[in-house]
Amino acid sequence: MIGLFDSGHGGLTVCRELVERFPQVEFVYLGDHANAPYGNRPSEDIVALTREGVERLYGQGCRLVLLACNTATAIACRTLQQQWLPDAGYEGHNILGVVAPMVEAATQTPWAVTAPQYPQKYNTDTIAVFGTQRTIDSGVYREEIRKRCPKVTVIEQDCPELAGAIEAARREDELDEMVSAYVATLLERTQGMAPETVILGCTHYPLIEHLFVRHLPPSTRILSQPKVVADSLEDYLARHTRYVAPPRAGTRPSLLTTGDPRGVERSLEIFWPEPQRFEPVG
Ligand code: DGL
Repeated sequence: MIGLFDSGHGGLTVCRELVERFPQVEFVYLGDHANAPYGNRPSEDIVALTREGVERLYGQGCRLVLLACNTATAIACRTLQQQWLPDAGYEGHNILGVVAPMVEAATQTPWAVTAPQYPQKYNTDTIAVFGTQRTIDSGVYREEIRKRCPKVTVIEQDCPELAGAIEAARREDELDEMVSAYVATLLERTQGMAPETVILGCTHYPLIEHLFVRHLPPSTRILSQPKVVADSLEDYLARHTRYVAPPRAGTRPSLLTTGDPRGVERSLEIFWPEPQRFEPVG
């Protein structure tokens, strides 16, 4: 069983892709709806809430947990991997995040390579990153991209209200107006130059990717986080077969929430059009 964790609904964009890509794998999804959104919370809260979420998923029998949330990954992943997990008594367990796969895809450089490799394919590109306040403030995308490709220009744009507005199922025209304003601010900072690549660094944003496409220059390529993460997990599982249980036919993911399951189901439609059932996490 593989656990997926997000502050709320956003990680379902990744969950849907993984369920399609790995029909034989059993996934358990936990949304911390009782505490969402994470995007503007203090770091200590995000670390503590993410740790609790991971422990709950370990308690469900998942030995591998993917943080399907950029904010939790940016703020908590490294701390939990390096400072908590080694002494927490969960031998054989692991935590992965969604930032590393995006950095690998954007820089065309494996995560294990932390210094520039020459000749660099994308020497002078501009990569734009949209994300929550905390993800952007953490600087994780800029730092990790520039470590591998120092000549790349990284421009980051925080979208403080966007994940909450998507989660609250705000009207398309309202979301469009917000995206248009965030993109306009970013393009002012590039002085109108089109970024080569855009990372939508929040798992809620794939749901409104069409709005980003509408407002970004046509030459800009948007990296699809659910697909990139699925590719990366495929590669990881091929190298770490201990996390792959014997195949089961037709498994559906278990969906858990810290919030009110019926309330969560009611606002689920844009994330997963077929009706899904959430259960309260124990
Ligand atoms: N889905 C989360 C992410 O990828 C953030 C949403 C939130 O603010 O909780 O960053």
